[in-house]
Amino acid sequence: MLSEKLQTAINEQINAEIWSAYLYLSMSLDAETKGLKGVANWFYVQWQEELDHARIFMNYLNSRDCKVNLLPIAEVRTSWESVMEMFQETLKHERKVTSMINNLAAIAAEDRDFASSNMLVWFINEQVEEEESARDMIFATESVEGNKYGMYQLDKELATRTYVQASPLANAAE
Ligand code: FEO
Repeated sequence: MLSEKLQTAINEQINAEIWSAYLYLSMSLDAETKGLKGVANWFYVQWQEELDHARIFMNYLNSRDCKVNLLPIAEVRTSWESVMEMFQETLKHERKVTSMINNLAAIAAEDRDFASSNMLVWFINEQVEEEESARDMIFATESVEGNKYGMYQLDKELATRTYVQASPLANAAE
């Protein structure tokens, strides 16, 4: 069994991952409304990935004989001024999630809970990718700022992003 402190923190993390999913779904819908189908697709994939993150934590609590407590999902913003603002908020949010994951890793280390530490390694690496991809998108958006044709091309490129199930879930299904 996990310590009470770690169980509570993982339950809060599940809530944060679902909230992240909700935030990106909201960005996807806002982009769709503005005719940016590629940006909408990019955030739709992001929403799917966040739900995977929540599922991995749920599976982990179940596998350690702990209870998943679904907490209320807070409201999210529904409109952004620009694509740049969406990606800037994405980076800011992912940095916050990174600090939450680091906090979980610190609790697991304190508890000498090696199984939990091991499970969290995947998330620590994932957060490096999450922050990098948000920074890449800020850079790509900056490079087409004020250029409508450039934005049209970028939107087409973002339409090609596809969802790939997170490896801990894909491996569990094998
Ligand atoms: Fe679940 Fe985007 O981190």
